Amino acid sequence: MAGTSLTIHELGAMKRDGEKIAMLTCYDATFARAMDRAGVDIVLVGDSLGMVVQGRSSTVGVDLADICYHVTCVERGLERTFLLADMPFGSYHDEATAMSSAVRLMGAGAAMVKLEGAGPMIDVVDYLTDRGVAVCGHLGLTPQSVHQLGGFKVQAREEVAAGKLLQDARALEAAGAQMLVVECVPSAVGRQVSTTLDIPVIGIGAGSGCDGQVLVMHDMLGLGDGLPKFVEDFMAGAATVQRAFESFVLAVREGRFPGPEHEY
Ligand code: KIV
Repeated sequence: MAGTSLTIHELGAMKRDGEKIAMLTCYDATFARAMDRAGVDIVLVGDSLGMVVQGRSSTVGVDLADICYHVTCVERGLERTFLLADMPFGSYHDEATAMSSAVRLMGAGAAMVKLEGAGPMIDVVDYLTDRGVAVCGHLGLTPQSVHQLGGFKVQAREEVAAGKLLQDARALEAAGAQMLVVECVPSAVGRQVSTTLDIPVIGIGAGSGCDGQVLVMHDMLGLGDGLPKFVEDFMAGAATVQRAFESFVLAVREGRFPGPEHEY
């Protein structure tokens, strides 16, 4: 599997050059092709597919075969865009399981795998990156822990929690993570993590100070009942879905999205 043309090193260079990175979730080949043509830099086959494709109330029931299937579909639609895949809940709780899950996802076409949390996950990231796996961390609101967190809530509002998040982000980078997603945190926290780390930090509900932005595709196309505060409906005013993707990329690149109205 040759992979697509954009590399993690080019994404790192975008951060260093101050060029904002545009990322969307994606689950099939048709949307992947449209995103690739629109200039989206990274597509994430997220375990959010459990909610927006499978109709579940959380991402918890998604399994590895589900993600592998969608990675295979998405990969067929891409030429340039970098392909990131989620490790679903229960697929990376120890080093050996994480490695075999990463092998399956990379075999399906993923260039990088994403996992949630820090703490014991630091050793897992260390293990994977020592063995040639490109890893993205995910901090802040970690949806696989929704039952522990007591719902989908903004994280790191207090100073102590914000300090802990920064410490976890540093530990993930030191363990070899080459990218980080930060979800639903105050914009000051998103900015601080992005300026502290050398690796690209992609925010979702984490403010305009992040190196890039990600949204769930269905949300940014205005689908679903009531959009979260951090989402903009890019379909409103767009003639086609392709145009909606293009307008998302442009708004991210030009620093117009997210605006103050999307921030915590
Ligand atoms: O699964 C997903 O779509 C994600 C994004 C919310 C970042 O992890």
